[in-house]
Amino acid sequence: MGKKITDKVTWVGKIDWELVFFHGHELSTHRGSSYNAYLIRDKKVALIDTAWKPYDKEFVDNLKKEIDLKQIDYIVMDHNEIDHSGALPALMAEIPDTPVYCTKKGEAILRGMYHQDWNFVNVKTGDVLDLGETQLHFIEAPMLHWPDTMFSYLTGEDILFSTDAFGQHFASEELFDDTCDLDAALREAMKYYANIVMTYNPMVTRKLKEVLALNLPLKMICPSHGIIWRKDPGRILKLYADWAADYQENQITVIYDTMWNSTRHMAEAIVKGIEEADPSVVVKVCNCAKTDKSDIVTEVMKSKAIVVGSPTINYGVSYYTAGILELIHGCKFKKKKAAAFGSYGWSGEAAKEITESLQKSGFTMVNDGLRMMWNPDEEHLAQCDQFGRDFAAAVKE
Ligand code: FEO
Repeated sequence: MGKKITDKVTWVGKIDWELVFFHGHELSTHRGSSYNAYLIRDKKVALIDTAWKPYDKEFVDNLKKEIDLKQIDYIVMDHNEIDHSGALPALMAEIPDTPVYCTKKGEAILRGMYHQDWNFVNVKTGDVLDLGETQLHFIEAPMLHWPDTMFSYLTGEDILFSTDAFGQHFASEELFDDTCDLDAALREAMKYYANIVMTYNPMVTRKLKEVLALNLPLKMICPSHGIIWRKDPGRILKLYADWAADYQENQITVIYDTMWNSTRHMAEAIVKGIEEADPSVVVKVCNCAKTDKSDIVTEVMKSKAIVVGSPTINYGVSYYTAGILELIHGCKFKKKKAAAFGSYGWSGEAAKEITESLQKSGFTMVNDGLRMMWNPDEEHLAQCDQFGRDFAAAVKE
């Protein structure tokens, strides 16, 4: 059922308590998610976004309880990824002539996805849709995080509908930052940024500057996932500005995989060395075969440096190491340092492959990596300890 946001705006989305993966299996969602859609009732009625396809009938049925669908004058699709447009075909089956406002790229995506000749109205930055006492101003926001993305700003209510930007995969019956478990929402917002938005940092920085320069009165930011920023919308704007500016904390993350514990023993000795050399640094340790990959990416975002280790398997790195290196590559991290290590039996390519991969991903490698044959003995573990000490010193500079 709908939840009232203001006198004119009602949340009509779907809270998905069951979601555990998003984007196929690319991203974990430990706390579910929501597909936020908003109904604006002024002299004219506009619906902003829909919900994910598995909930299309439920979405339309619930919307019918809120309003006679024929009273909807405009459908505004700020973003057309399937989690927001999936229920559009079911809705359009009921009100087929209703105009669908979206960017030109949004129309191309909807046509490519659903192959329907709906009544599309293309909008761009500066265009305004008059609803009566309030107006929707459109602001294109390409690559936040798809090419079609736009924001809609509602005058009078002073609400920015920001689609995925500022969102979180966070199911919560309490819709607002001042009523929900805020610490959990902020953690999910950071995870969302690291895994979905980070790649587009330069566009985020540009768009934030552009939106802030408009000096819009801002009472709320309503994203398309998770909670609404009502008490302090400036907080998430500031966090996004920080995260987009090659964010790092005083943290080093050690990521490894292991077959017979040799690489694990190396990892633990390296961790010991780092901690001995710099007690102030936060050290996180993740076995990438056992720790959630999306959480590892979030830890990398927080880190000023990472150390990645893998045993050599079939002349290369392990399956899980390859996977996390690929995710890290996609994030386009900048201004972070790194080093590689790994145990091996005969050929020993892993450390070199990790080094090359992280170099390609934009990391500054502080050395050529550390390789050790078979199981490290005390002398080898002392070398790992020293490797950790040297790494911490190099990263501290
Ligand atoms: Fe939540 Fe990009 O869709």
